[in-house]
Amino acid sequence: MSVLLTGGAGYIGSHTAVELLNLDKEIVIVDNFSNSKMSSIENVKKITGKDVKVYNADIRDKEGIDKIFKENNVEEVIHFAGLKAVGESTEKPLEYYDNNVNGTICLLEVMKENNVKKIIFSSSATVYGISEKLPITENMKVSAFNVYGRTKEMIEYILKDLYESDKTWSVVLLRYFNPIGAHESGLIGENPNGIPNNLMPYINKVAAGKLECLSVFGNDYDTPDGTGIRDYIHVVDLALGHVKSLEKIKNTSGVFIYNLGTGVGYSVLDIINAFEKVNNLKINYKIVSRRPGDIAVCYADATKARTELGWVTTKTLEDMCKDSWRFEQNNN
Ligand code: NAD
Ligand code: WQD
Repeated sequence: MSVLLTGGAGYIGSHTAVELLNLDKEIVIVDNFSNSKMSSIENVKKITGKDVKVYNADIRDKEGIDKIFKENNVEEVIHFAGLKAVGESTEKPLEYYDNNVNGTICLLEVMKENNVKKIIFSSSATVYGISEKLPITENMKVSAFNVYGRTKEMIEYILKDLYESDKTWSVVLLRYFNPIGAHESGLIGENPNGIPNNLMPYINKVAAGKLECLSVFGNDYDTPDGTGIRDYIHVVDLALGHVKSLEKIKNTSGVFIYNLGTGVGYSVLDIINAFEKVNNLKINYKIVSRRPGDIAVCYADATKARTELGWVTTKTLEDMCKDSWRFEQNNN
């Protein structure tokens, strides 16, 4: 019996692969390598000392995916595969709807044909849009306001409707907050192509001297230091949330929604200060105007994942900053 990881060569998928292999789970990875490299799989093998079956395939290739299901005794799917850049999604909506929404439908059709009905889906805190209250709980209304977020919201509806049509499905929707950090080995981590959009990868590039200066997007928000607040979560803690979710769907059916965040918000300046302190270096930054589409504050209420999954985060902001920088130094 194996767990199939779509997008398993990517940032979160590769960390989840490590945690599953550490528990001696059999895994199969499917990735089209549109945003990852085979070397991440090699590093997963190096970290765990275990072999991994990997297929270079696109989830929209139903025939190819069906063959993979037939060749492997797949019991559960963790569905990471997707495009994730908010700005790009606005420029290329059709590509995002095709890859994310159509890709998921193709995957679900193959799962159904092969009678595999357990799926954990990588959703995002983005689905909450501008939340009416903080911290954010899972029962708050979803109302994404960019194309990327809408693909996640649509997929959530598709999965809920699928369960309504057949109550033997077991679905976990994991709404990630802001994953950062890397495996402590420094072998796997986040390595975006080109100029990073997200805060931590950008800080890494400035620290490495590859980019000159970090632009802090606004210091006039209604927050203690005026900069935006987010719930940053270490990617290894996040990966362990998938391990707990697998246990949850093993013997139950239903749709289960969990926020995966720490429940603590940090500002942009908190992140810069922690990164400087723990890594003993200086980050060159300047305050610029707000980035369109950004919200002031976003952090999770992660009580539900704790009480229902027994999942708790253990990594600190210092761990996140130290591990991110170690990966950057090792890999670039
Ligand atoms: P990532 O880009 O590193 O990983 C996604 C992987 O999916 C990549 O290896 C890519 O090559 C693969 N892929 C994309 N389209 C595919 C397709 N059609 N067929 C097969 N493989 C395909 O991204 P990540 O940060 O690891 O994110 C994983 C998932 O979590 C994504 O669905 C993303 O939207 C979601 N998510 C990420 C974040 C974040 O900040 N990183 C936050 C919330 C949700
Ligand atoms: C964090 C904070 C910025 C870059 C995005 C997606 C979300 C999810 C995670 C996938 C904000 C500030 C950033 C910079 C800055 N991904 N910032 N200078 O926007 O919270 O979330 O990634 O699901 O969907 O929207 O993350 O890392 O881009 O920004 O000042 O160069 O850092 O304004 O306050 P965000 P981020």
